[in-house]
Amino acid sequence: MATKEEAEAVLANKQVILKDHIHGPPKESDLEVRISSVLPKAPPGSKAVLVKNIYLSVDPYQAILMQKIEDHPDISCFVPGKPLKGYGVAEVIDSDHPDYKPGDLVWGITGWEEYSLITEGFSDTRPLQRLLHIVDTDVPLSYYTGLLGIPGLTAYAGLFEVCSPKEGERVYVSAAAGAVGQLVGQFAKLSGCYVVGSAGSNEKVEMLKDKLGFDDAINYKEEKDLTAALKRCFPQGIDIYFDNVGGKTLEAALNNMKMKGRVVLCGMISTYHDQTIGVNNLVMAIFNRVRIEGFAVLDFCEQHPKYLDFVLPLVRGGKVRYIEDMVEGLENAPAALVGLFSGRNLGKQVLKIA
Ligand SMILES: NC(=O)c1ccc[n+]([C@@H]2O[C@H](COP(=O)([O-])OP(=O)(O)OC[C@H]3O[C@@H](n4cnc5c(N)ncnc54)[C@H](OP(=O)(O)O)[C@@H]3O)[C@@H](O)[C@H]2O)c1
Repeated sequence: MATKEEAEAVLANKQVILKDHIHGPPKESDLEVRISSVLPKAPPGSKAVLVKNIYLSVDPYQAILMQKIEDHPDISCFVPGKPLKGYGVAEVIDSDHPDYKPGDLVWGITGWEEYSLITEGFSDTRPLQRLLHIVDTDVPLSYYTGLLGIPGLTAYAGLFEVCSPKEGERVYVSAAAGAVGQLVGQFAKLSGCYVVGSAGSNEKVEMLKDKLGFDDAINYKEEKDLTAALKRCFPQGIDIYFDNVGGKTLEAALNNMKMKGRVVLCGMISTYHDQTIGVNNLVMAIFNRVRIEGFAVLDFCEQHPKYLDFVLPLVRGGKVRYIEDMVEGLENAPAALVGLFSGRNLGKQVLKIA
């Protein structure tokens, strides 16, 4: 129980709360922004760390966790009445943990709120579920939500570990202008591949070609026949398809795969809320001896230091760029999350806590 002095010193804490588990695509009204309060100290003996959140990562999987999914060991759904959780960048305000002190900059799993009392994850054996110190501060701190965090590792491990690109191979990336896709394309280009991305607006298509060095890009929303569009872009077929979308996009890619091509199933954003949308041409994978592999970044967490060694010199040397879509203020968090499902974001969706 807090003392009178402590109770008087509480900090107002703006939070983004899940109202109830959802069915179907997320809506802004599924979330509520409200003011709560938090004590300014980590309780003695708790081994907890109190952080002030600076940047939050807005990710498609968070809308999946707003649903109620039972009996899956890897999935821990959000709890109605509590703030959403996700990766973020924060500053330690107070600590009862020997490894953290006030002023430390950290990144890891935190809450969608101004202040989070982090009470778990310090001894977790999965490296990226621990609160990590930020060592490299010569790059924007927000990059730890994207380029230097989970989306970056996803692009790196999904492309290099699952697909092993070789010079001259032809690579197709969907949701190419997003957090993961923009890096997949750039990493494939650095490997000497020919890279085409698809995205949902002409502005994104221009960004891919002009700013991120893709060889070509298409606006899938303007293509009447995606199979034909991919045939136009890949007359000799696709060696590697990095799938962020699933559904009809995966079907069109399968119609264009080369013999012995590889498909990495990274994301299925077009079907997350309607899993009755099927893929009707899997037989093409047999005809063309295509290897299709599902991928989860959590299996590659131990590679994060190796990934930083790979990517930081490229970023510092201007060889890899990262486009962020920065939204400010927790009251804009619901719209930012919902916007991922209509393609509102141009680049990695980040929320800056004002
Ligand atoms: N397997 C893993 O471990 C792992 C890890 C991280 C992310 N992921 C997955 O990777 C994918 C990309 O994640 P991200 O963080 O980089 O997100 P993102 O691409 O930054 O944002 C999502 C994008 O998906 C596109 N989109 C939304 N609905 C669509 C639809 N019905 N059809 C086609 N495109 C649609 C939108 O772009 P357009 O304007 O182009 O439509 C939107 O901007 C997601 O599916 C995510 O769940 C998987």
